[in-house]
Amino acid sequence: MSGKFSRRQFARLAGLAALGMAATPANSANTKQNRAADRRAPAGFPKDFVWGTATSAYQIEGAVNEDGRGRSIWDTFAHTPGKIGDSSTADRANEHYYRYKEDVRLIRDLGVRHYRFSVAWPRIFPDGTGAPNPKGLDFYNRLIDELLANGIEPYATLYHWDLPQALQDRVGGWQSSDTSKAFADYAGYVAGRLTDRVKTVFTLNEAGRFVNFGYGWGIDAPGLKLPTAELNQARHHVALGHGLAVQAIRSQARAGTRVGPAENIAACVPAFDTPENVRAAEMATRELNAGLLGVMLEGKYTDGFLEYSGKDAPKFTADELKIIGSKNDFVGLNIYAPQFYIAASDKAPGWSVLPFPGSFPHMNSEWLRIGPETIYWAPRLAAKVWNIETIYISENGTSSEDKVHADGKVYDLDRIMFLRNYLRQLHRAVAEGVPVRGYFLWSLMDNFEWIFGYEKRFGLYHVDFDTQRRTPKLSAAFYRDVVARNAIGV
Ligand code: BG6
Repeated sequence: MSGKFSRRQFARLAGLAALGMAATPANSANTKQNRAADRRAPAGFPKDFVWGTATSAYQIEGAVNEDGRGRSIWDTFAHTPGKIGDSSTADRANEHYYRYKEDVRLIRDLGVRHYRFSVAWPRIFPDGTGAPNPKGLDFYNRLIDELLANGIEPYATLYHWDLPQALQDRVGGWQSSDTSKAFADYAGYVAGRLTDRVKTVFTLNEAGRFVNFGYGWGIDAPGLKLPTAELNQARHHVALGHGLAVQAIRSQARAGTRVGPAENIAACVPAFDTPENVRAAEMATRELNAGLLGVMLEGKYTDGFLEYSGKDAPKFTADELKIIGSKNDFVGLNIYAPQFYIAASDKAPGWSVLPFPGSFPHMNSEWLRIGPETIYWAPRLAAKVWNIETIYISENGTSSEDKVHADGKVYDLDRIMFLRNYLRQLHRAVAEGVPVRGYFLWSLMDNFEWIFGYEKRFGLYHVDFDTQRRTPKLSAAFYRDVVARNAIGV
C-alpha cells in the first residue's frame, strides 16, 4: 500500500470492501468466493406469484375535509388529547389524495405490478348510510385508472378501520348489527362501481385487531373498554358484517370478482418441529381463531370457544352463522410476528401456549417479535385446518429506525434482514405446496402509524412529513431485486 494512503482513506476502503462494493483488485481476489455464491441458486417462486405492496386510506390520504368526506372514528380519536404517541393526526398524512400519481410511480419504480389500497367508507357515505358522495368515489376511480395506466393491478380493501363517526354516534358502531348491514350496503355499492377494473376485493382488514383494540382494550378508535360479553357481541357483528358484505359484493360486482377477508390470524407456531407439536399447533390455530377467522370459514363457533366464553358468549342465530360462513374466494393473512408458540400437552385440550421469555428479540416496534417461521407455519396450518385453496399474505413488513444519511440514502439493513428471512420461509411454504399465491409488503411508504403517529416507519420509501419528499430506502432496491428475479437469495 502506498505510504500516501491516509488512515481515513484506508478506513473508507475497508468499509467499502466490507460492503462488497470496492471494484478493486481486492475484489478479484474474491472470485473463488464469488463463484461459490453464484452456485447458491436463489429460491425461485412460481411464475404467476403475485408481488405487491399495501397501504390504507386513513394512514396516507390526508385531505380529511376534502370533497365531502365525512368524519371517521379515527379523526375523532386522533384529535383526542393523549391518544396518539406523538400527538399527531392524519389530517395531512402523506397527502396521497393529491399526490397519488407520484405514489403510483413509486410502485411502478419497484417493478411491483400489484397494489392493495383501502377505500375510505366516510368518503363514499359521509354519514355511514344514506346518500352516497360521488366525489368520494371519483378519487378511487382516478387512482384505479392511474394504476392500470401504469400496468399495476388494483386490490381494494373496503374497511381498514375508518368507520364513519356517524355510525359510532348513532348505533355504537360495531356494537350494533346495524353497522354490519350498513357495511354490506357500502360494500355492495362500491363493488358495483369499481369491479369493472378491480378484480380482487378484501372485506375487513384485521377484524381481530380493530375489534379487540378498539372495543375491548380502548387502545385504538373508538377507544372503548367493553365488558367481555359486549365485546364478544361486537366481534360477532364484525363477522356478520364480513358475511353480509361477501353476499352484497357477489350480488353487485362484475362476474369473476374475487372476495375474501384480510385477517391478522392468531399466528400459532410449533415450539419446535415435531409431529406432536405440529398437531398441537393445528388444534390451537383452530381454537385461538374461533371468534373470527374460524367462524368465517366454518360457519360455526367451535364448542371450545362457546364453552370458554360461557355466559359471555355472543348471541346469534343459525341464519347469521350461515351468512358469516359465506364462501370466500381466498383468505388474506396479515403476518408480522409469532403470536403463540405452541407445544403438545398431556392435559386437555392437548396443547399449551408457552410464555415468551423477556429476552425474545423484536424489531423497532416492541410488538413485532422476530419469528420468520411464522410466515411458513401460519399459512400452512390455516390451509390444513380450514382446507383453504388460495391464500395471500395481505401484509408483512417491519418498522425500522430509518434515517436519511448525509448522502441522502436510508440504510435500513434491519428491514432487509427481516424481509430476507421472512421471504425465505415464505418460499419454503410455497415450495412445499402451501397454497400462498401472493405477498403484499407493508408498506409502500412511511405513513401515519395509528397510535404511534409518525414515530414508527414501515415504508419502502422514507417520507419527510414536512416536505412530503419520498426517498427510496435500501430495502426498496432489495424488494425490486426480489420482484425482478421472482426469487429470494440467501
Ligand atoms: C397492521 C395494520 O396491523 O400493522 C396496518 O393492518 C399497520 O394498518 C401495521 O400500519 C403496523 O401496525 P402499528 O400498530 O405498529 O401501527
